[in-house]
Amino acid sequence: MTSTDDLDGEVALVTGATSGIGRAIAADLAAAGAAVAVSGRRTERLETLVEDIEDDGGTALPVTADLADTDQVREMVETTREGLGGLDILVNNAGVMLLAPVVRAELADLQQMLKVNLEGLMAATRLALPEMLEQDHGHVVNISSVAGRRVNETSAGYSATKFGVNAFSEGLRKETADSSVRVTVVEPGAVDTELGEHIPDENVRERMAEMVQEMTILDPEDIAAGVHYAVTQPEHVSVNELLIRPTEQQS
Ligand SMILES: NC(=O)c1ccc[n+]([C@@H]2O[C@H](COP(=O)([O-])OP(=O)(O)OC[C@H]3O[C@@H](n4cnc5c(N)ncnc54)[C@H](OP(=O)(O)O)[C@@H]3O)[C@@H](O)[C@H]2O)c1
Repeated sequence: MTSTDDLDGEVALVTGATSGIGRAIAADLAAAGAAVAVSGRRTERLETLVEDIEDDGGTALPVTADLADTDQVREMVETTREGLGGLDILVNNAGVMLLAPVVRAELADLQQMLKVNLEGLMAATRLALPEMLEQDHGHVVNISSVAGRRVNETSAGYSATKFGVNAFSEGLRKETADSSVRVTVVEPGAVDTELGEHIPDENVRERMAEMVQEMTILDPEDIAAGVHYAVTQPEHVSVNELLIRPTEQQS
């Protein structure tokens, strides 16, 4: 990754930075000069990421947090501000995709998707926004999904959270239009990460694994490049929505 100074002086917070897309976004923003708070539940992975970023000359802060717990979301935002001196770019990336037909789904899995993918994202945004508005500078990037635009027979619960992310992002965009705060929703198609490994329904997990083997799917860095584009535009340019599929992905 090439280092630039596009984001010198900016402070970013990336949730779900222990793997996949979040890790790639955090590394990219740090390489572009931002000081980056990296968050997730797995502290060791956060510490390794911080070491990698610092080895490359960047600045990063590990912030362990479970987004299903509102107190920890609050602490995550406060620790970022205290540790890095502010918060300009919030990347709400953490998510779980516990696919199953509704009739076979565990209630706890449906609830966990709502808590992490939607409630956690809403809480982090709610807590970060007042200061962004006050300083008239800020960017909220919400990682949704192609599943935020279309639904299939095993994604009712997951898609409900991602449709929610899209609705929340659009409302937020309108609400902040009279300020310099910008809102971007990113909708990835299939990306090579750990996301599918946590699918509880064995049939669905296997079908998903087969599907992604049939094509060249995206790398997390492909999504990070989209986020980089959005957050480095001049302040009068607001990239509202990025839908990024593998070329071979039809639906
Ligand atoms: N991969 C794809 O094909 C794809 C496609 C469309 C959209 N997306 C979206 O992209 C985002 C990132 O997913 P990914 O593909 O990079 O998957 P991933 O590799 O499984 O990463 C998910 C991240 O979310 C974090 N997370 C999960 N539960 C959490 C919780 N309770 N509290 C805090 N953090 C939590 C994980 O960290 P810990 O486990 O350490 O907490 C991890 O860092 C998700 O919102 C996902 O819906 C992915």
